[in-house]
Amino acid sequence: MPPRYFKTNGHLLVCQGQNCQARGSVLLHKALWTHLERQSLAYYKTGGTVRLTESGCLGACSFGPALCVYRAAEGRLEEGWYAAVDFPLATRIAQAVQDGAALPTERKYGPE
Ligand code: FES
Repeated sequence: MPPRYFKTNGHLLVCQGQNCQARGSVLLHKALWTHLERQSLAYYKTGGTVRLTESGCLGACSFGPALCVYRAAEGRLEEGWYAAVDFPLATRIAQAVQDGAALPTERKYGPE
């Protein structure tokens, strides 16, 4: 029997490289997980569709904590890249993924 598949609206990755850790990414990741659990946004909660993973360096070391998000949108893969991410911004990104809404634009960089 294969593993259970959980429907996912999108996947957030929070960098845990050394530079981002020095700027608070350990606490950011932990706080975001707690938020996803409490708000039932985590993929394994009823109605939840958001995945969250630690990542290695995302290449924005001087601008951390860095976070990227991937999701399917209008038949293509949409990506969002963020620098200097704090908890409020991270929760807004997660909520946009949950709701299928436009990603926040503040502190976003990279492809449109
Ligand atoms: S250490 Fe986080 S982007 Fe490089």
